Amino acid sequence: MKFRTLGKTGFKISEVSLGTWQLGGKWGDPFDEKDAAATLEAAYESGVNYFDTADIYQDGQSEHAVGEFLKKHPDVHYSTKMGRKLEPHTPASYSKENLTAFVDSSLQNMNVESLDLVLLHCPPTSVYYDPTVFWTLDELKKAGKIQNYGVSVERVEEAEKALQFNISAVEIIFNMFRLRPAEHFFAEAQAANVGILARVPLASGLLSGKYTTATTFGKADHRSYNRNGAAFDKGETFSGVDFATGVKAADELKQRLGTDNLADLALRYILMYDAVSTVIPGASKPEQIIANAQAAELPAFTDQQLAIVQDVYDQYIKNPVDYLW
Ligand SMILES: NC(=O)c1ccc[n+]([C@@H]2O[C@H](COP(=O)([O-])OP(=O)(O)OC[C@H]3O[C@@H](n4cnc5c(N)ncnc54)[C@H](OP(=O)(O)O)[C@@H]3O)[C@@H](O)[C@H]2O)c1
Repeated sequence: MKFRTLGKTGFKISEVSLGTWQLGGKWGDPFDEKDAAATLEAAYESGVNYFDTADIYQDGQSEHAVGEFLKKHPDVHYSTKMGRKLEPHTPASYSKENLTAFVDSSLQNMNVESLDLVLLHCPPTSVYYDPTVFWTLDELKKAGKIQNYGVSVERVEEAEKALQFNISAVEIIFNMFRLRPAEHFFAEAQAANVGILARVPLASGLLSGKYTTATTFGKADHRSYNRNGAAFDKGETFSGVDFATGVKAADELKQRLGTDNLADLALRYILMYDAVSTVIPGASKPEQIIANAQAAELPAFTDQQLAIVQDVYDQYIKNPVDYLW
């Protein structure tokens, strides 16, 4: 495993990390504590030292599992996120009172005295225009409850706006099917010493290349119920790519890159960008993170391979996905 610095946090984190949205089983399954612990251990054994969680994942059980894991492995780092529990999820609800309560609840859930990195969890766009939200985060930092803060964004423009504040890192969707952040944000982030957590690196599994147009997903899996954005931003599911188009594009990538295992290459591709601090693939079983950790060891892409990725993107994905986020 190789390591990179996560922006202003100064944390040296593994190039491949673990996203814990679906920790402890498949999306929608009841949370399984043993499965969760096994996945976290498998990641650690494979060299992973960074974990991305959120207060809302598995209703706090993901945070709790990472907290328990930290007791055994205090050397690891993590981000957690807050804001998506707000009902209604409005800009006004990002108040000092609510943010402080969320931080207190995450501290309790994870059983730690100070949180490594807290991200606003895809807040409404106008929150990026409300400095009082970020001043509250400054106060929480001063009080020692959090060590760093940042944002998890839907759109490139939100990420750019957030650079006005004292953020340490940005979590953003970036993968072979979502290239716009590299063109419009990475250089600015790097210049500001802001780390980048590349989320949804496999386009919700599409870029593993294992699905066919006949593949179905469980009822409680967002890949069933959020395909058209019924529950949250549709860009979070398959990176906003129409499923059949995504399968076709992934098949073409496999064929032209000459591989059956597209997941490895999809992760290695993201690491071609120096601005990226780490990729955070999710795993529905330990074997997946063990395999994903190997991606960091693959050789760099050749110019020819890079051109294939761009060509497939331009042909199948760019229009209209590029314009939406
Ligand atoms: N708003 C936000 O801030 C936000 C939103 C989304 C995600 N995230 C973070 O980003 C992380 C990653 O996103 P994600 O989990 O949604 O998407 P992802 O990493 O793009 O895809 C994860 C899925 O890919 C498949 N997979 C993973 N490794 C594989 C392998 N080696 N071989 C074959 N298939 C493999 C699995 O699908 P199967 O289940 O079908 O096996 C897995 O559930 C999350 O866990 C979370 O921490 C944050």
